[in-house]
Amino acid sequence: MCSPVVVSAVLTACLCGLLLPVACTPQLNYRPIIGVLAQENIVEDVHALGSSYIAASYVKYLEGAGARVVPIRINQTEGEYVKIFNSINGVLLPGGDVDLQTSQFSRVSKILYDLAIKANDAGDYFPIWGTCQGFQQMTVLASNKNLLTLTDTKAVALPLTLTPGAQSSRLFRTFPRELLQALASENITSNFHSWSLSLQNYSRNAKLKRFYRILSTNNDGKKDFISTMEAHRYPFYAVQWHPEKAPFEWIQKAGMVHTSSAVSASFYTASFFVSEAMKSQHQFLSLMEEERALIYNYSPVFRGVQSVFMQNYYFD
Ligand SMILES: *[C@@H]1O[C@H](CO)[C@@H](O)[C@H](O)[C@H]1NC(C)=O
Ligand SMILES: *[C@@H]1O[C@H](CO)[C@@H](O)[C@H](O)[C@H]1NC(C)=O
Ligand SMILES: *[C@@H]1O[C@H](CO)[C@@H](O)[C@H](O)[C@H]1NC(C)=O
Repeated sequence: MCSPVVVSAVLTACLCGLLLPVACTPQLNYRPIIGVLAQENIVEDVHALGSSYIAASYVKYLEGAGARVVPIRINQTEGEYVKIFNSINGVLLPGGDVDLQTSQFSRVSKILYDLAIKANDAGDYFPIWGTCQGFQQMTVLASNKNLLTLTDTKAVALPLTLTPGAQSSRLFRTFPRELLQALASENITSNFHSWSLSLQNYSRNAKLKRFYRILSTNNDGKKDFISTMEAHRYPFYAVQWHPEKAPFEWIQKAGMVHTSSAVSASFYTASFFVSEAMKSQHQFLSLMEEERALIYNYSPVFRGVQSVFMQNYYFD
Protein backbone atom coordinates (compact mmCIF):
# COMPACT_ATOMS: atom_id res chain seq x y z
CA MET A 1 0.00 0.00 0.00
CA CYS A 2 2.72 2.40 1.03
CA SER A 3 5.56 1.86 -1.41
CA PRO A 4 3.68 2.24 -4.74
CA VAL A 5 2.51 5.67 -3.56
CA VAL A 6 6.05 6.70 -2.71
CA VAL A 7 7.35 5.41 -6.05
CA SER A 8 4.70 7.25 -8.01
CA ALA A 9 5.39 10.47 -6.08
CA VAL A 10 9.07 10.20 -6.93
CA LEU A 11 8.26 9.46 -10.56
CA THR A 12 5.94 12.43 -10.75
CA ALA A 13 8.64 14.65 -9.30
CA CYS A 14 11.14 13.42 -11.86
CA LEU A 15 8.74 13.70 -14.78
CA CYS A 16 7.75 17.19 -13.70
CA GLY A 17 11.29 18.41 -13.89
CA LEU A 18 12.32 16.60 -17.04
CA LEU A 19 9.51 15.69 -19.36
CA LEU A 20 6.25 17.43 -18.59
CA PRO A 21 7.05 20.89 -17.28
CA VAL A 22 3.63 22.26 -18.15
CA ALA A 23 1.14 19.44 -17.76
CA CYS A 24 1.79 18.02 -14.31
CA THR A 25 1.33 19.32 -10.81
CA PRO A 26 4.59 20.03 -9.00
CA GLN A 27 5.24 18.79 -5.49
CA LEU A 28 4.10 21.16 -2.78
CA ASN A 29 6.53 22.64 -0.31
CA TYR A 30 5.00 22.06 3.13
CA ARG A 31 7.70 24.11 4.89
CA PRO A 32 7.09 27.51 3.26
CA ILE A 33 8.99 30.56 4.46
CA ILE A 34 7.60 34.00 3.67
CA GLY A 35 9.57 37.24 3.73
CA VAL A 36 7.87 40.22 5.38
CA LEU A 37 9.35 43.58 4.38
CA ALA A 38 10.38 46.03 7.11
CA GLN A 39 9.92 49.79 6.74
CA GLU A 40 11.30 53.02 8.16
CA ASN A 41 9.99 54.27 11.50
CA ILE A 42 8.63 57.63 10.49
CA VAL A 43 6.09 58.31 13.21
CA GLU A 44 7.21 59.11 16.76
CA ASP A 45 7.64 55.76 18.54
CA VAL A 46 8.92 55.81 22.11
CA HIS A 47 9.25 52.01 22.07
CA ALA A 48 11.44 51.92 18.97
CA LEU A 49 14.61 49.87 19.37
CA GLY A 50 15.75 50.51 15.81
CA SER A 51 15.18 52.71 12.78
CA SER A 52 12.89 50.22 10.99
CA TYR A 53 10.11 47.85 12.06
CA ILE A 54 7.67 45.07 11.21
CA ALA A 55 4.31 44.94 13.00
CA ALA A 56 4.08 41.53 14.71
CA SER A 57 0.45 41.04 13.56
CA TYR A 58 1.67 40.30 10.01
CA VAL A 59 4.04 37.67 11.33
CA LYS A 60 1.36 35.95 13.45
CA TYR A 61 -1.07 36.15 10.53
CA LEU A 62 1.26 34.05 8.35
CA GLU A 63 2.38 31.76 11.16
CA GLY A 64 -1.26 31.00 12.01
CA ALA A 65 -1.76 29.65 8.49
CA GLY A 66 1.27 27.36 8.43
CA ALA A 67 4.21 29.47 7.26
CA ARG A 68 7.38 30.63 8.91
CA VAL A 69 8.59 34.20 8.51
CA VAL A 70 11.88 35.81 7.61
CA PRO A 71 12.18 39.58 8.11
CA ILE A 72 13.46 41.43 5.07
CA ARG A 73 15.40 44.43 6.31
CA ILE A 74 15.66 47.69 4.40
CA ASN A 75 18.96 49.36 3.45
CA GLN A 76 20.67 46.16 2.29
CA THR A 77 22.43 45.70 -1.02
CA GLU A 78 20.74 44.40 -4.16
CA GLY A 79 22.93 41.30 -3.95
CA GLU A 80 21.64 40.56 -0.47
CA TYR A 81 18.04 40.82 -1.69
CA VAL A 82 18.74 38.42 -4.57
CA LYS A 83 20.07 35.94 -2.04
CA ILE A 84 17.02 36.33 0.23
CA PHE A 85 14.66 36.08 -2.74
CA ASN A 86 16.19 32.78 -3.80
CA SER A 87 15.75 31.44 -0.26
CA ILE A 88 12.09 32.30 0.44
CA ASN A 89 8.74 31.23 -1.00
CA GLY A 90 6.78 34.47 -1.07
CA VAL A 91 6.81 38.12 0.01
CA LEU A 92 4.29 40.06 2.08
CA LEU A 93 4.30 43.85 1.76
CA PRO A 94 2.60 45.14 4.92
CA GLY A 95 0.65 48.25 5.82
CA GLY A 96 2.33 51.37 7.13
CA ASP A 97 3.10 54.98 6.47
CA VAL A 98 6.09 55.48 4.20
CA ASP A 99 6.48 57.15 0.81
CA LEU A 100 5.69 54.82 -2.10
CA GLN A 101 8.32 56.32 -4.39
CA THR A 102 11.21 57.54 -2.25
CA SER A 103 11.36 55.29 0.84
CA GLN A 104 13.70 52.37 1.38
CA PHE A 105 10.53 50.25 1.65
CA SER A 106 9.59 51.25 -1.90
CA ARG A 107 13.15 50.65 -3.14
CA VAL A 108 13.25 47.11 -1.75
CA SER A 109 9.67 46.41 -2.89
CA LYS A 110 10.73 47.18 -6.44
CA ILE A 111 13.81 44.96 -6.26
CA LEU A 112 11.74 42.01 -4.95
CA TYR A 113 8.89 42.71 -7.37
CA ASP A 114 11.20 42.73 -10.40
CA LEU A 115 12.79 39.48 -9.21
CA ALA A 116 9.33 37.94 -8.78
CA ILE A 117 8.23 39.00 -12.27
CA LYS A 118 11.38 37.48 -13.77
CA ALA A 119 11.05 34.28 -11.74
CA ASN A 120 7.39 33.75 -12.62
CA ASP A 121 8.11 34.46 -16.30
CA ALA A 122 10.71 31.69 -16.16
CA GLY A 123 8.26 29.20 -14.58
CA ASP A 124 9.59 29.70 -11.04
CA TYR A 125 6.34 30.28 -9.11
CA PHE A 126 6.70 33.11 -6.60
CA PRO A 127 3.72 34.85 -4.92
CA ILE A 128 3.46 38.38 -3.51
CA TRP A 129 0.80 39.65 -1.11
CA GLY A 130 0.18 43.35 -0.40
CA THR A 131 -1.92 44.70 2.45
CA CYS A 132 -2.99 48.39 2.65
CA GLN A 133 0.28 50.25 1.97
CA GLY A 134 1.45 47.00 0.34
CA PHE A 135 -1.58 47.16 -1.96
CA GLN A 136 -0.78 50.78 -2.79
CA GLN A 137 2.87 49.96 -3.43
CA MET A 138 1.78 47.23 -5.86
CA THR A 139 -0.33 49.74 -7.83
CA VAL A 140 2.74 52.00 -8.11
CA LEU A 141 4.90 49.04 -9.19
CA ALA A 142 2.45 47.99 -11.90
CA SER A 143 1.80 51.48 -13.31
CA ASN A 144 5.12 53.21 -12.55
CA LYS A 145 3.03 56.06 -11.14
CA ASN A 146 1.30 57.08 -7.97
CA LEU A 147 -2.35 57.17 -9.06
CA LEU A 148 -3.84 57.27 -5.56
CA THR A 149 -6.43 59.74 -4.40
CA LEU A 150 -7.54 60.88 -0.93
CA THR A 151 -10.62 59.09 0.47
CA ASP A 152 -12.54 59.18 3.72
CA THR A 153 -11.51 55.71 4.87
CA LYS A 154 -9.39 56.31 7.95
CA ALA A 155 -11.07 54.09 10.57
CA VAL A 156 -14.06 52.29 9.14
CA ALA A 157 -15.21 48.70 8.71
CA LEU A 158 -16.94 48.02 5.40
CA PRO A 159 -18.63 45.14 3.55
CA LEU A 160 -16.91 44.30 0.24
CA THR A 161 -18.76 44.97 -2.99
CA LEU A 162 -17.70 41.85 -4.87
CA THR A 163 -17.28 42.05 -8.64
CA PRO A 164 -19.00 39.48 -10.91
CA GLY A 165 -15.66 37.67 -11.31
CA ALA A 166 -14.90 37.48 -7.58
CA GLN A 167 -16.48 34.07 -6.96
CA SER A 168 -14.37 32.43 -9.63
CA SER A 169 -11.16 34.29 -8.70
CA ARG A 170 -8.18 32.29 -7.47
CA LEU A 171 -8.34 34.04 -4.09
CA PHE A 172 -12.06 33.93 -3.32
CA ARG A 173 -13.00 30.60 -4.88
CA THR A 174 -11.21 28.89 -1.99
CA PHE A 175 -13.46 30.65 0.56
CA PRO A 176 -16.53 28.94 2.06
CA ARG A 177 -19.73 30.32 0.55
CA GLU A 178 -21.04 31.65 3.90
CA LEU A 179 -17.79 33.52 4.47
CA LEU A 180 -17.96 35.21 1.08
CA GLN A 181 -21.54 36.11 1.91
CA ALA A 182 -20.42 37.60 5.25
CA LEU A 183 -17.67 39.58 3.51
CA ALA A 184 -20.25 40.98 1.11
CA SER A 185 -22.91 41.84 3.69
CA GLU A 186 -21.27 42.48 7.09
CA ASN A 187 -18.98 45.39 7.99
CA ILE A 188 -15.97 43.21 8.66
CA THR A 189 -13.12 44.57 6.55
CA SER A 190 -11.04 47.12 8.48
CA ASN A 191 -9.99 50.20 6.49
CA PHE A 192 -7.25 52.45 7.85
CA HIS A 193 -6.03 54.40 4.84
CA SER A 194 -6.14 57.99 3.64
CA TRP A 195 -5.25 57.09 0.04
CA SER A 196 -7.02 54.75 -2.37
CA LEU A 197 -6.90 53.61 -5.97
CA SER A 198 -10.17 54.91 -7.39
CA LEU A 199 -12.07 52.75 -9.84
CA GLN A 200 -11.80 55.71 -12.21
CA ASN A 201 -8.00 55.87 -12.16
CA TYR A 202 -7.72 52.10 -12.40
CA SER A 203 -10.01 52.06 -15.44
CA ARG A 204 -8.07 54.84 -17.15
CA ASN A 205 -4.67 53.24 -16.68
CA ALA A 206 -3.91 50.63 -19.34
CA LYS A 207 -1.02 49.09 -17.38
CA LEU A 208 -3.07 48.53 -14.23
CA LYS A 209 -6.02 47.15 -16.16
CA ARG A 210 -3.83 44.79 -18.10
CA PHE A 211 -2.11 43.58 -14.95
CA TYR A 212 -4.82 43.33 -12.28
CA ARG A 213 -8.32 41.93 -12.11
CA ILE A 214 -10.60 43.67 -9.60
CA LEU A 215 -12.29 41.36 -7.09
CA SER A 216 -13.99 43.97 -4.89
CA THR A 217 -14.59 47.69 -4.60
CA ASN A 218 -15.81 50.01 -1.85
CA ASN A 219 -17.17 53.53 -1.69
CA ASP A 220 -16.23 56.24 0.80
CA GLY A 221 -19.42 58.21 0.14
CA LYS A 222 -17.94 59.92 -2.90
CA LYS A 223 -15.61 57.64 -4.83
CA ASP A 224 -15.51 53.97 -5.69
CA PHE A 225 -12.11 52.51 -4.85
CA ILE A 226 -10.49 49.12 -5.34
CA SER A 227 -10.43 47.01 -2.18
CA THR A 228 -9.26 43.59 -3.44
CA MET A 229 -7.41 42.57 -6.61
CA GLU A 230 -5.35 39.76 -8.08
CA ALA A 231 -3.00 39.81 -11.05
CA HIS A 232 -4.23 38.15 -14.25
CA ARG A 233 -1.00 36.31 -15.02
CA TYR A 234 1.03 36.39 -11.81
CA PRO A 235 0.40 35.03 -8.28
CA PHE A 236 0.15 38.58 -6.94
CA TYR A 237 -2.69 39.54 -4.57
CA ALA A 238 -3.54 42.78 -2.82
CA VAL A 239 -6.08 44.00 -0.29
CA GLN A 240 -6.60 47.63 0.70
CA TRP A 241 -8.22 46.38 3.94
CA HIS A 242 -6.50 44.72 6.90
CA PRO A 243 -7.20 40.99 7.34
CA GLU A 244 -4.46 40.67 10.02
CA LYS A 245 -6.11 43.13 12.41
CA ALA A 246 -9.21 41.10 13.38
CA PRO A 247 -7.31 38.35 15.25
CA PHE A 248 -4.11 40.20 16.20
CA GLU A 249 -4.63 43.91 16.87
CA TRP A 250 -6.67 45.20 19.81
CA ILE A 251 -6.66 49.00 19.84
CA GLN A 252 -10.18 50.19 20.72
CA LYS A 253 -11.32 52.38 17.90
CA ALA A 254 -13.80 52.61 15.05
CA GLY A 255 -13.08 50.21 12.22
CA MET A 256 -11.70 47.43 14.42
CA VAL A 257 -13.78 44.22 14.23
CA HIS A 258 -13.29 40.94 16.09
CA THR A 259 -16.37 38.93 15.08
CA SER A 260 -16.01 35.25 14.12
CA SER A 261 -16.55 36.04 10.46
CA ALA A 262 -13.88 38.77 10.53
CA VAL A 263 -11.40 36.36 12.14
CA SER A 264 -12.41 33.65 9.69
CA ALA A 265 -11.89 36.01 6.72
CA SER A 266 -8.44 36.79 8.11
CA PHE A 267 -7.52 33.11 8.29
CA TYR A 268 -8.77 32.28 4.78
CA THR A 269 -6.76 35.09 3.18
CA ALA A 270 -3.60 33.98 5.01
CA SER A 271 -4.24 30.31 4.28
CA PHE A 272 -4.71 31.07 0.59
CA PHE A 273 -1.47 33.01 0.38
CA VAL A 274 0.45 30.33 2.28
CA SER A 275 -0.93 27.71 -0.13
CA GLU A 276 0.48 29.81 -2.97
CA ALA A 277 3.86 29.95 -1.21
CA MET A 278 3.78 26.13 -1.00
CA LYS A 279 4.13 26.11 -4.79
CA SER A 280 7.57 27.73 -4.53
CA GLN A 281 10.61 25.49 -4.20
CA HIS A 282 13.13 28.15 -3.14
CA GLN A 283 15.19 27.26 -0.10
CA PHE A 284 18.09 28.51 1.98
CA LEU A 285 21.48 27.14 0.98
CA SER A 286 21.88 25.53 4.40
CA LEU A 287 19.89 24.88 7.54
CA MET A 288 22.27 27.21 9.36
CA GLU A 289 21.49 30.10 6.99
CA GLU A 290 17.77 29.40 7.42
CA GLU A 291 18.17 29.39 11.19
CA ARG A 292 20.00 32.72 11.16
CA ALA A 293 17.37 34.38 8.96
CA LEU A 294 14.14 33.35 10.73
CA ILE A 295 12.12 35.91 12.72
CA TYR A 296 12.64 33.78 15.88
CA ASN A 297 16.02 35.52 16.22
CA TYR A 298 14.16 38.72 17.15
CA SER A 299 11.74 39.57 19.97
CA PRO A 300 8.69 41.76 19.45
CA VAL A 301 8.18 44.74 21.76
CA PHE A 302 4.82 45.30 23.48
CA ARG A 303 3.84 48.92 22.82
CA GLY A 304 0.70 49.13 24.98
CA VAL A 305 -3.02 48.62 24.44
CA GLN A 306 -3.49 52.04 22.84
CA SER A 307 -1.07 51.31 20.00
CA VAL A 308 -2.16 50.75 16.42
CA PHE A 309 0.38 47.92 16.35
CA MET A 310 0.36 46.10 19.70
CA GLN A 311 3.78 44.57 19.13
CA ASN A 312 6.57 45.51 16.72
CA TYR A 313 9.83 43.90 15.72
CA TYR A 314 12.62 46.47 15.37
CA PHE A 315 15.71 46.34 13.19
CA ASP A 316 18.88 48.33 12.59
C1 LIG B 1 18.99 53.94 5.19
O1 LIG B 1 19.95 54.70 4.49
C2 LIG B 1 19.66 56.07 4.43
C3 LIG B 1 20.65 56.75 3.53
O2 LIG B 1 21.81 56.01 3.38
C4 LIG B 1 19.66 56.65 5.82
O3 LIG B 1 19.35 58.02 5.78
C5 LIG B 1 18.64 55.92 6.65
O4 LIG B 1 18.68 56.37 7.98
C6 LIG B 1 18.85 54.44 6.61
N1 LIG B 1 17.71 53.83 7.24
C7 LIG B 1 17.80 52.75 7.98
C8 LIG B 1 16.51 52.26 8.51
O5 LIG B 1 18.83 52.20 8.21
C1 LIG C 1 -6.00 60.03 -10.39
O1 LIG C 1 -4.58 60.07 -10.22
C2 LIG C 1 -4.03 61.37 -10.07
C3 LIG C 1 -2.53 61.24 -9.97
O2 LIG C 1 -2.00 60.84 -11.20
C4 LIG C 1 -4.60 62.03 -8.84
O3 LIG C 1 -4.09 63.33 -8.71
C5 LIG C 1 -6.10 62.07 -8.95
O4 LIG C 1 -6.64 62.57 -7.76
C6 LIG C 1 -6.68 60.69 -9.21
N1 LIG C 1 -8.09 60.84 -9.46
C7 LIG C 1 -8.98 59.97 -8.99
C8 LIG C 1 -10.39 60.26 -9.26
O5 LIG C 1 -8.66 58.97 -8.40
C1 LIG D 1 -21.73 49.39 7.35
O1 LIG D 1 -21.13 50.01 6.23
C2 LIG D 1 -22.02 50.78 5.48
C3 LIG D 1 -21.27 51.29 4.28
O2 LIG D 1 -21.16 50.30 3.35
C4 LIG D 1 -22.59 51.90 6.31
O3 LIG D 1 -23.52 52.63 5.57
C5 LIG D 1 -23.22 51.34 7.55
O4 LIG D 1 -23.60 52.40 8.41
C6 LIG D 1 -22.27 50.43 8.29
N1 LIG D 1 -22.96 49.80 9.40
C7 LIG D 1 -22.44 49.77 10.61
C8 LIG D 1 -23.27 49.06 11.64
O5 LIG D 1 -21.37 50.27 10.90
